[in-house]
Amino acid sequence: MSQKPPALTSPSRRAVLAAGAAVAADAAVRPLMAGEPPPPAPAVVKDLKDKTSTLTFTEIAHGLDDNHHVSPGHTTQILLRWGDPVLKGAPAWTPTTQTPEAQKLQFGYDNDYIAFMPLPYGSKSSTSGLLCINHESSRHALMFPGYPAPRPDELPKDLVDIEMAAHGHTVVKIDLKGGAWTVDPTSSFNRRTMATTEVDISGPAAGHKRMQTTEDPTGKHVLGALAGCAGGYTPWGTVLLAEENIHHFFGGDPKKTTETFGLQAMGIGTERYYGWYNYYQRFNVEKEPNEPNRFGWIVEIDPFDPAAKPVKRTALGRFKHESATIAVTRDRRIVAYLGDDEVFQFIYKFVSAKPYDAKARDLNAGLLDEGTLYAARFNADNTITWLPLIWGKGPLREDNGFDSQAEVLIDARRAAKQLGATSMDRPEDIEVHPKTGSVFVTLTKNSKRTPLMVDAANPRPRNRAGHILEIMPMGANGEVDHAATTARWRILLKGGDPAQRKSDTAYNAGITENGWLACPDNLVFDNQGRLWITTDGGNDFGIADGIWATDVDGPGRALTRHFFRCPDGGEVTGPAFTPDGTTLFCAVQHPGDIEDAHFSSAPKSWPDFKEGVPPRPSVVAIRRTDGKVIG
Ligand code: FEO
Ligand code: CA
Ligand code: CA
Ligand code: CA
Repeated sequence: MSQKPPALTSPSRRAVLAAGAAVAADAAVRPLMAGEPPPPAPAVVKDLKDKTSTLTFTEIAHGLDDNHHVSPGHTTQILLRWGDPVLKGAPAWTPTTQTPEAQKLQFGYDNDYIAFMPLPYGSKSSTSGLLCINHESSRHALMFPGYPAPRPDELPKDLVDIEMAAHGHTVVKIDLKGGAWTVDPTSSFNRRTMATTEVDISGPAAGHKRMQTTEDPTGKHVLGALAGCAGGYTPWGTVLLAEENIHHFFGGDPKKTTETFGLQAMGIGTERYYGWYNYYQRFNVEKEPNEPNRFGWIVEIDPFDPAAKPVKRTALGRFKHESATIAVTRDRRIVAYLGDDEVFQFIYKFVSAKPYDAKARDLNAGLLDEGTLYAARFNADNTITWLPLIWGKGPLREDNGFDSQAEVLIDARRAAKQLGATSMDRPEDIEVHPKTGSVFVTLTKNSKRTPLMVDAANPRPRNRAGHILEIMPMGANGEVDHAATTARWRILLKGGDPAQRKSDTAYNAGITENGWLACPDNLVFDNQGRLWITTDGGNDFGIADGIWATDVDGPGRALTRHFFRCPDGGEVTGPAFTPDGTTLFCAVQHPGDIEDAHFSSAPKSWPDFKEGVPPRPSVVAIRRTDGKVIG
């Protein structure tokens, strides 16, 4: 999710359009008239500067308009839209007469992370599976008629209740029939997790006094998995939801609480999006100062058991989680790579104490409860030192304000800072190369880094366009070992328009010129080891956000190629391939969210383009027209 208030994009709409005009000569920038069908995807092909990439798809041009566009020779199917029925008995979506009861049975808002979990369990099916999707946020000005500006405290309780039902997670069964995907809203696997869903808390911080509230004196049970941004999945078939921007939910003044510093460390009181605290006391920190301590975790959801409660795994630390990408070590311990998406925050990894057992699924349930959390220090000699967050070691002692391992995890940001971890340019998604084991991290941007604050791994002052780092795990014998406490690093690419800041050679050194991108966010690898990158921030450069792909090895390394772009105001998230690589799912988040946009400001209403229908965040299934492997 872009870190900006809903429906208030920056820079100004005029500036974006002016910048966009230069690069969007191809784009159908004429607004569609109400009711006018969207144009067919007129992807414009440009000559490739390189012939060395292993990728063979035809590149599309940069652009910015009201629709999505994909590389020629591919189809785009709008598979799931906000409001689509996903549970038994769900009514059809009616935009002007929404109810909380209906939303609880329908697809949520602002789809983000996607996992495709093949059915049956343990198979590699690419024709049947459970699509597991996070719903990161809601935008009431775009969702509900009559709210032309984002003023959350004006929302009546029934609309707040719709919002609370539109957050969380959806599991829905899908099947590929005749080259198109179908949603099965009657499957008993289908499930919605919402702000009111019962969730357990496990691991070292469960039950700690700072996790206890009036409603839950045990500190072990909470309602909701919120702000699920990117995520991950485990080898035992569970999905990991990463709770990111939790500060948007809480009202009240942190300074009037017993938790002032802890709340401020997570940005509580600085940027509130929702008026939930007007009706639900637990979201008012002056009434319940510990409730925010129960958010900002990795949440494990078992899509194959709809009765299993989601579980917050506190051993993985509390911060603004973006991703939870799993690697398995040679001795079968589980490693989770974790990003904390805020300027000057850190990259972490968790290493389980016990090995994974592929034969006994239930035995893996507690693997993420016991192990060691590390934060990364990036050294100038291109090495990394992984610093363990262990209570009693180094500065993580009682006299420094940590009473136990629970507090080290609740205040993981403070612990990592005291250990000397490196402050990064907003770490978002992380992916592990399927063949080499190298780990790739997006650093989406950080305009707050001054020239005096640059370091080797974050080399650009005012980093508006972000970069991608490669981490090479380094075991004792030079072998890949994800549990090792050292690694090496190098930069894969830098974002930005190479035509801008031409004279600034330091800024532009290493920039990707071929089909450039800006503000990398989510990542996924294909089976051939090519990296697919989505972006969040293209509008600042006059282009739509989208999907790019690149080799990460050989002569095509860092030669990005533009594959898909989304409608104006949107952001592309959640890329996920089927196991055979013939379908690429992606999620278009907050389409049409441009300055002053609201429910009735059609024609920006992707993907329906119907009068009276607002834009709808939707999952898109991309396939080649010949059904072959994408790439
Ligand atoms: Fe939700 Fe960091 O993007
Ligand atoms: Ca993101
Ligand atoms: Ca983002
Ligand atoms: Ca990913």
